[in-house]
Amino acid sequence: MLALFAVTHDFTRYLDDCKFILVSNREPYEHIRRSGGTVHIKQPAGGLVTALDPTMRRTHGTWVAWGSGTADRDTADEAGRLMVPPGEECYSLRRVWLDDADVNGYYHGFANRALWPLCHMLIQHFEFRTEFWERYRAVNLRFAHAVADEAERCSGRSMAWIQDYHFGLAAEFLRAIRPSMFIHQFWHIPFPPPDILRLLPSGSHEALLRGLLGNDLVEFQIDRYAQNFLECIERFVPDASVDRVEGRVSFRDRDVQVGAFPISIDVERFEAMASTPDAIARVETLRARYVRDGRQLGVCVDRVDYTKGIPERLRALSTLWTEVPSLRERFTFIFVCTPSRTDLPAYHALEQEVVQAVMDINRRFGTDGWTPIVLINENVDSDLLASVYRAADLCIVSSLQDGMNLVAKEFIACQLEERGVLLLSRFTGSAEEIDGALLINPFNVDGFMGAIRTALDMPVEERRRRMRRMRQQLHNSTIFDWLDSILARSSEIMDAQRGERVVA
Ligand code: ADP
Ligand code: F6P
Repeated sequence: MLALFAVTHDFTRYLDDCKFILVSNREPYEHIRRSGGTVHIKQPAGGLVTALDPTMRRTHGTWVAWGSGTADRDTADEAGRLMVPPGEECYSLRRVWLDDADVNGYYHGFANRALWPLCHMLIQHFEFRTEFWERYRAVNLRFAHAVADEAERCSGRSMAWIQDYHFGLAAEFLRAIRPSMFIHQFWHIPFPPPDILRLLPSGSHEALLRGLLGNDLVEFQIDRYAQNFLECIERFVPDASVDRVEGRVSFRDRDVQVGAFPISIDVERFEAMASTPDAIARVETLRARYVRDGRQLGVCVDRVDYTKGIPERLRALSTLWTEVPSLRERFTFIFVCTPSRTDLPAYHALEQEVVQAVMDINRRFGTDGWTPIVLINENVDSDLLASVYRAADLCIVSSLQDGMNLVAKEFIACQLEERGVLLLSRFTGSAEEIDGALLINPFNVDGFMGAIRTALDMPVEERRRRMRRMRQQLHNSTIFDWLDSILARSSEIMDAQRGERVVA
């Protein structure tokens, strides 16, 4: 097992007396009322919450987010505030309430029917309605007021950290309310090139870019997305001047910095979850069941989303078992996927397609003693996920486009025996960062199938060498390193701004 060199980051040196206010659409903890009336707490699936909850535990401060749980109002005070995480209360959550029209127009509409497919360049799913855009504007303004309100509650300085594509306009609105506040934004998903962004009608794509220029710093996962953003600014915001080399935009009387900061996970937490006595027992059970007699076990973990390449993955597996019959009964796949955004027709249809395709594969290739794909179609606790990752011989991440993809990093973190092979889509941010995976193009059926065969045939020594390399890289870039680099850059900019004000 890899020796751990835990680096303790001290974030207070950046935040000093500054109140930290994070804002995202998705909240870290939802309270859900069950049919019997009892309330349970759920952590929504998604990279944003996985990454940011551990960081908020260290920075404290306030997380402002949509109160989306059915019992959320009953578990917060009149202002929508409560302390979280449950049992370890160390930061505050301020819930913002949205009605059905807001959710339909802003979240399902502009965020998920327009921006999500555009940013992932899957334009067959792109849909624009004026109502979506208007609601997006209105909700962005409401969140800007909620952040300003949180900032009012403290006497000193405050910093706003906006998350993701749900809030493309919030920085500009917040800047108008609190001109001297330090505002920055992390864009979790890819940023498209100009020819894709301009599919948003005239007016809205320029407005979105100007909205983002309300920030002092805009952060992307990888440099390519940052460059796409700068190219869009050059093309669509004529009154801005762009320095592509320095990653800087001069706009109105301010400078906006732009950079790449690849997100990660709490590596030690995943390692710890994979090492508990319960996890070890689960790993033994899984391996006794699926890996006896030289068989192998594959795994994938996703939200059911058309960006994740799930039908493409099923097609590759089906082709493999068709063309290489000797691999039937030799290789079982655990397919963990949780329904996501099911109010949208494209997601609902995809979920049905996936369940149907798995049933077809199992009917076609399964035998009395063997089920090719074990489908777990639900939100699974992360400690259980950790056991599955640890037990597996290979993991497939086949996204058609993905800002980063944290599942790949979770798999690496939990591979304590260093036996697993990671098959990783070359269209993920992770593929540009991780060295040691087998890169795949999910659209290339034969190449994809060939990579699964290569993984299954890979000698133990090569598996170990690759996994060790990936684990070393991951230990050098955890979620805390990510936060550290963003806060260090932010405080550098804040210091420079203060210097400029003194001189002026
Ligand atoms: P995205 O943010 O697009 O969902 P990521 O791969 O970056 O994609 O992050 C997904 C996160 O959601 C990971 O932390 C993963 O463990 C979690 N997740 C995905 N599917 C499930 C599931 N079925 N049950 C529980 N957690 C899940
Ligand atoms: O990582 C991108 C992202 O949209 C996050 O912002 C979000 O938490 C996650 O995917 C899951 O999506 P949703 O919040 O729409 O369920």
